[in-house]
Amino acid sequence: TSTPVNVTVTGAAGQIGYALLFRIAAGQLLGPDVPVRLRLLEIPQAVKAAEGTAMELDDCAFPLLAGIDITDDLKTAFDGANIALLVGARPRTKGMERGDLLEANGGIFKPQGEAINAHAADDIKVLVVGNPANTNALIARSHAPDVPADRFTAMTRLDHNRALAQLSKKAGVSVSDIKKMTIWGNHSATQYPDIFHAEINGRSAAEVVNDQEWLENDFIPTVAKRGAAIIEARGASSAASAASAAIDHVHTWVNGTPEGDWTSMAVVSDGSYGVPEGLVSSFPVTCANGRWEIVRGLEIDDFSRGRIDASVAELSEEREAVRGLGLI
Ligand code: NAI
Repeated sequence: TSTPVNVTVTGAAGQIGYALLFRIAAGQLLGPDVPVRLRLLEIPQAVKAAEGTAMELDDCAFPLLAGIDITDDLKTAFDGANIALLVGARPRTKGMERGDLLEANGGIFKPQGEAINAHAADDIKVLVVGNPANTNALIARSHAPDVPADRFTAMTRLDHNRALAQLSKKAGVSVSDIKKMTIWGNHSATQYPDIFHAEINGRSAAEVVNDQEWLENDFIPTVAKRGAAIIEARGASSAASAASAAIDHVHTWVNGTPEGDWTSMAVVSDGSYGVPEGLVSSFPVTCANGRWEIVRGLEIDDFSRGRIDASVAELSEEREAVRGLGLI
């Protein structure tokens, strides 16, 4: 019976929130022995709906759930937070320009970064899920100067998991036979799912598949445009899979990557692989002792180089845009 870990979830009344909170409370975020206290942040109009979700959480009688606070106040939400899942964001609506989208989200992630800086626990770990996730993480981080930059991450684990699923089907193997999958760049249609470093039962995945046509015209676009395909089919954007990926991201960050494998996380670049310093870009990372580290020394061929550069160029443009708007 250790002290509960404070887990803050923003956008708690949304569809990802509904798929996420029950799994956190069941112990899947941190482990089966770790009690959690949930802090749910919502906008005032959605506090009542979050209260409804909290009633259902109560009704599950989860042994590890030490308490639930529901608030529309940033200080209350992030006070003593150990883990923050920033899910709530302003979605792009019809006719909205990218600048408007970035500005609206700056209005959310700037004050949240400030509140994390002022009130969160010293060991705070932040995962940004709300889109545009990489740049929202950049905005939040730049308003939290007292928090080490490596504590702000954005989610590309859903893309990573989608890539595992597609490759496992193509190769006729189980996802657990695949190691060292990588998503590079932005969580957007420019992302680059890379199988050149991936292994299937210890062999090069690219060699096992040996199908460049499939790689370029099927695998990469299927993974990169999966979000749109889900909306088309389901009439709503991915929620349970996004929640599952968020659980995976934090669980791996806290508990570590298995020996001989790595994962994908969007983290602050130190200039590795030609990604400009300070951008929040997806890399192959290993995790140990609650810290991530970018995998070093991978050889990048011309095909991969072009794909990585294109996605990173988009991130640089987003950074310039939010700089121009005075958001960082
Ligand atoms: P949703 O619209 O169902 O829920 C969003 C919730 O956030 C709403 O309840 C809203 O009231 C709340 N919210 C808005 N502004 C807020 C603020 N300032 N503070 C606290 N709460 C606020 O959306 P859904 O489906 O849950 O998705 C959430 C975000 O996650 C979207 O931005 C979506 O694009 C993104 N997403 C990211 C993925 C990734 O792989 N990185 C995958 C899937 C979704």
